[in-house]
Amino acid sequence: MASSVHIVGGGVIGLSCAWELSRDGHDVTVVAPAPGRDGASWVAAGMLAPVTEAQFGESALTALLLEGSRLWPGFAAVLEGATGQTIGYDATGTVTVALDASDRASLDDLLAYQHSLGLSAQRRSTSECRGLVPALSPALRGGIEVPGDHQVDNRALLGALDAACRGAGVSFVEAAVAAVAAGPELVLADGRRLRPEQVLLAPGTGLPGIRGLEATGLPAVRPVKGHILRLGPPVAGHGEPPPLLERTVRGLVHGRSVYLVPRRDGSVVVGATVEERGDDTAVRAGAVHELLCDARAIVPGIDELELREAATGMRPATPGNTPCIGWTALDGVAAAIGHSRNGILLSPLTAAAVVDLLGRRPVTPLIRALAPT
Ligand code: GLY
Repeated sequence: MASSVHIVGGGVIGLSCAWELSRDGHDVTVVAPAPGRDGASWVAAGMLAPVTEAQFGESALTALLLEGSRLWPGFAAVLEGATGQTIGYDATGTVTVALDASDRASLDDLLAYQHSLGLSAQRRSTSECRGLVPALSPALRGGIEVPGDHQVDNRALLGALDAACRGAGVSFVEAAVAAVAAGPELVLADGRRLRPEQVLLAPGTGLPGIRGLEATGLPAVRPVKGHILRLGPPVAGHGEPPPLLERTVRGLVHGRSVYLVPRRDGSVVVGATVEERGDDTAVRAGAVHELLCDARAIVPGIDELELREAATGMRPATPGNTPCIGWTALDGVAAAIGHSRNGILLSPLTAAAVVDLLGRRPVTPLIRALAPT
């Protein structure tokens, strides 16, 4: 059933849903202050990591992440085909390394947990890890090879989604939404009122700022701050050096997690802290220092890269750390919220689910389990 759909939110979830809904025949408008630049999607590293993001006690979330990962090759190919733009989808896998003996013990516990879930991960010695990633420090305690965890260039992805949406006829209203009411109706911050047939809420950490959602059954969404750095290739002048890294490296460094995600242009994204600090988005010197120290402890060659950007992003997290996707108690208003650490990975899966929901077709059991209560 084709309809007019307004999507609140212009991050990776909002744009993926907009593109897929428009391909399904809906008349789609994205309402967001800065589509394609909104929220956590822009600052993210772009890891597609169902295995290395598997946390103890979150096996249901891991099943969802694995299903999300399965859709990525097809999604990337169709998006690149539709836009003629490359999005840096890279399937070279991930290596996680340990710095000290205690980090090695923690990695072994993690590996046992990954194996208990049937995930593909292999214990590797330091020299095996260095065979996979020559830039790794020799002073490590080995690691784990995870062949199925990949990455995409999140900023190229957002650019391609924006182009795909515009090419498919999606409209954009660059404004903030202040309230949602029955109808459904959207009230914009400047007082304008929009009355589509259906609404999809995908505002990331903007959710608590939207009035009218108190009795809709949606979980609370809070911001979980992450500092993240972008390092460029070495400053020009010494010819064209080979890239420092060719696959994603994650590390445990004296109990702290760090990751280094290489891009095709030789740059590296280094992240990320996990901080509960409310709405504080300030870039803190201490957090930048800690990320750089931890990253260089496992990949010393980052010393030669150019520090291009230090930023923070706010992950939209629910109390249970799982996303919420489904109809709210407000007639005609659906939600796709709370993707926390996994918004990029889950964007194709969420968009497919939203196409089913808004087309009034049954959703899969995995998605039904995420409905607002
Ligand atoms: N998915 C990585 C992060 O949230 O830092």
